[in-house]
Amino acid sequence: MEKTQSTASVKTTDRVQHTDTRQSACGRADGSGRAEGSAWPETQSRQKTRLLSITNLKKYFPVAKPSLFARQMYVRANEDISVDIYQGETFGLVGESGCGKSTLGRVLLQLYEQTAGSTMYYGRTLEEVAPDYVLDTLSNAEKYIEKYRRAAARGEELSKKCEALGDSASFYDLQDRNLALCDARTALDCTAKILGGFMARETRRGAALLSEKYKLTFRAAALAHRAEDIAVEIQAGEGLLEEIPPEKSPEKGKRLQAKIEKLTRKQNHLAARQKDLLAAAAEIDEKIGQLKALYAGDAEFARYEAMLDHGVDLKRLKYKEMRHLRKDLQIIFQDPYSSLNPRMTVGRIIEEGLVTHGFFKAGSRKMQEHVFKVMNSCGLQNYMYNRYPHQFSGGQRQRICIARALAVKPKFVVCDECVSALDVSIQSQIINLLQELKEKEGLTYLFISHNLSVVRYISDRIGVMYLGNMVEVAETDELFSDPRHPYTIALLSSIPTTDPESLTKERILLEGNIPSPIKPPSGCKFHTRCFMACDKCKVVPPGLKEVKPGHFVACHFAEERKVDKAGGYLFDVNVAMGNR
Ligand SMILES: Nc1ncnc2c1ncn2[C@@H]1O[C@H](COP(=O)(O)OP(=O)(O)OP(=O)(O)O)[C@@H](O)[C@H]1O
Ligand code: SF4
Ligand SMILES: [Mg+2]
Repeated sequence: MEKTQSTASVKTTDRVQHTDTRQSACGRADGSGRAEGSAWPETQSRQKTRLLSITNLKKYFPVAKPSLFARQMYVRANEDISVDIYQGETFGLVGESGCGKSTLGRVLLQLYEQTAGSTMYYGRTLEEVAPDYVLDTLSNAEKYIEKYRRAAARGEELSKKCEALGDSASFYDLQDRNLALCDARTALDCTAKILGGFMARETRRGAALLSEKYKLTFRAAALAHRAEDIAVEIQAGEGLLEEIPPEKSPEKGKRLQAKIEKLTRKQNHLAARQKDLLAAAAEIDEKIGQLKALYAGDAEFARYEAMLDHGVDLKRLKYKEMRHLRKDLQIIFQDPYSSLNPRMTVGRIIEEGLVTHGFFKAGSRKMQEHVFKVMNSCGLQNYMYNRYPHQFSGGQRQRICIARALAVKPKFVVCDECVSALDVSIQSQIINLLQELKEKEGLTYLFISHNLSVVRYISDRIGVMYLGNMVEVAETDELFSDPRHPYTIALLSSIPTTDPESLTKERILLEGNIPSPIKPPSGCKFHTRCFMACDKCKVVPPGLKEVKPGHFVACHFAEERKVDKAGGYLFDVNVAMGNR
């Protein structure tokens, strides 16, 4: 069952939670300070249903130390990224090579462990996933709160130290403070998202009641899972029954029929038990509501209660739990050559996920029918079922990758440069196929690409990344008609076009190399290449500000229009081109 978040209370709760996390965002290039004007993108959460919510996400890769005593350095692949992805949309992600696009896609799917921040998934309810971390947090609530307090105190101590040092604070001082603040934020997220207001008041009683409720709802969800497995067994039995004509083997037919009836009885019994458990959980929920009502006017209780989040925290899932969710969260890799097992036939490649996730029993006829259906919808013929990957063209292999990802009926797919390796005609075929499948299956995509024309065609919204940070987010038409970040303007000006009129328009070439993601520039990370940079840009990191509904820009000059309605530049192009 999908969580639609239709209730006003969930929306409000979640929005406040984001407001809280944005305010503590560390936006400095060294990751150490608070970004200016970093108001949480409020309108992102209006009306649409969120599927994923990323808050202050960081991914640092440790760099090998030159000596045992050297300080640890990190490649800051993703820095403080906060964005929501809505159900049924295609979110395009663009930026130069090495800016952290693939890393973000992989961290979202937890193929890389995130360093800090939270990645909440709303495609399934907490009860359906029943993660261990919920009961663990509730049974050790006081320990978690203490851990958060210690982490917060350490963060504060290091912040004060850096403040006292001022400009003489070293890179390592700032880095240590940044990591300590991340730890504090993570400890708070882990606790408050589950306990809510009980973090501040009635911790023991509240945690005990919540724990009791979750135990019941988790058991009910486990019964539902069991019922689903039984449904698969019944389906397989019915398939066999169709294959065995009763006149040929009446005994076998009878045995199968009896087995199906037994399984159906079991299914009904499970449904009845599930109902009882949910009724008991509803009673406890009432008690929780009564306890919360006692603290209705308590500001501290309300502060933590607002952080309550019913999504699934992907970062905290165990390997096995995450594996269970993999069927929802799929990826199409950039390279269709290395991402297919050369020793497996196409049929087996597609079936592997179906069997692993318990959709069908291995070798079942129904599964083969399903695989044919998926293959056909991806433009592959039935006779290709027994072929090996090397017997296909590049475009066909990409279709196999798409079929493999879509066979398990995912809700969210990361398309990482999935058309970059293909020629233009195949690119358009694959893109149209993705669009078609999205409309038919209600999929949500994160579409990563260098190619702005492709991204423009396929995306509903676009995020522009620079050196690990999201610098602009807007709906596609809005981004192309009114880009506000100088980096976005330079990227847009570089799109190849066949329009002869546009040839007269000057292209803005970015000067200088991309700075190191290990020691990025201070202030705005883009200031070393920006044609609008001023002294403030070198010191103060700009936060992501909402300049128009749904349009977010991380620039000190975000409010200024840079391009007119006809696409002409409203700034000094000579300066932008370096002819100062
Ligand atoms: N496994 C890894 N270990 C260490 N550093 C990594 C790892 N993966 C990526 N990086 C670094 O993280 C940064 C972002 O890499 P990423 O692959 O996300 O870039 P990208 O935007 O996808 O680039 P491209 O457009 O070229 O695919 C780069 O500096 C890269 O060197
Ligand atoms: S104008 Fe300043 S803040 Fe804006 S992108 Fe350029 S350097 Fe960054
Ligand atoms: Mg990449």
